[in-house]
Amino acid sequence: MTTAPDGSPVEVYALLPPLGEAETVHGALPPGADVLDLGCGTGRVARRLVRLGHPVVGVDESAEMLAHLDGVEAVRARIEDLRLGRRFGGVLLTAHLVNTPSDGERHALLASAARHLRDDGRLVVQWHTPSWFETAADGQGGTIGPVRTSLRDVRRDGDLLSATVDYRIDDRTWSHPFTARRLAEPDLDAALHAAGLVRDAWLTPDRTWFSARPAQSSKSSSSRAR
Ligand SMILES: C[S@@+](CC[C@H](N)C(=O)[O-])C[C@H]1O[C@@H](n2cnc3c(N)ncnc32)[C@H](O)[C@@H]1O
Repeated sequence: MTTAPDGSPVEVYALLPPLGEAETVHGALPPGADVLDLGCGTGRVARRLVRLGHPVVGVDESAEMLAHLDGVEAVRARIEDLRLGRRFGGVLLTAHLVNTPSDGERHALLASAARHLRDDGRLVVQWHTPSWFETAADGQGGTIGPVRTSLRDVRRDGDLLSATVDYRIDDRTWSHPFTARRLAEPDLDAALHAAGLVRDAWLTPDRTWFSARPAQSSKSSSSRAR
């Protein structure tokens, strides 16, 4: 069993199919925009974005995850430390990384996204909505391709929620414990603001995906997300 430093199981991510995430990103960006996928894992989303016409650079701290990339330029680095000296039309920060328990790490992740984003570019983020923190419960899960998922040991401590997600494929099980911090929308907007970003639009009806843009970009505030 191989896990990334954050506990994500490599074998599972290599087998998880994309679930329309790339199409959500594609719809938020101009056709052919170059994309930086921060925390790309095995390239589950990045490889599909390439097929949709986007050149993609994928960044991950796990060499084992990056070994699965195909058609995607791989950079092994921690997101917080990344300095490519290059800016992109689209930057992705998915997998709820923005819900890190640490305010300092959240700022470092968003600052990295911001310094790699063109003035006219869009940051695309997947987060845990505040309501997820109310509804998460033991036994929740489902089947994604060959992978069955199930949540257990859900514990709450103020704004922090800790739990373990079990991934099962046939008779093999991988367990990924994690802790996430609840961010109310004003908290989220303040974290974006501190990195020079402003929320732009909700990208999915359940509001688990949104875009943000540089606060200094020329787009008028009238089209901001409500
Ligand atoms: C849950 S996986 C998701 C992978 C991919 N985004 C997907 O949706 O399939 C999270 C990935 O982010 C990477 N990661 C987490 N924190 C990171 C950091 N600070 N710097 C670089 N990579 C990180 C992990 O190594 C892992 O591959």
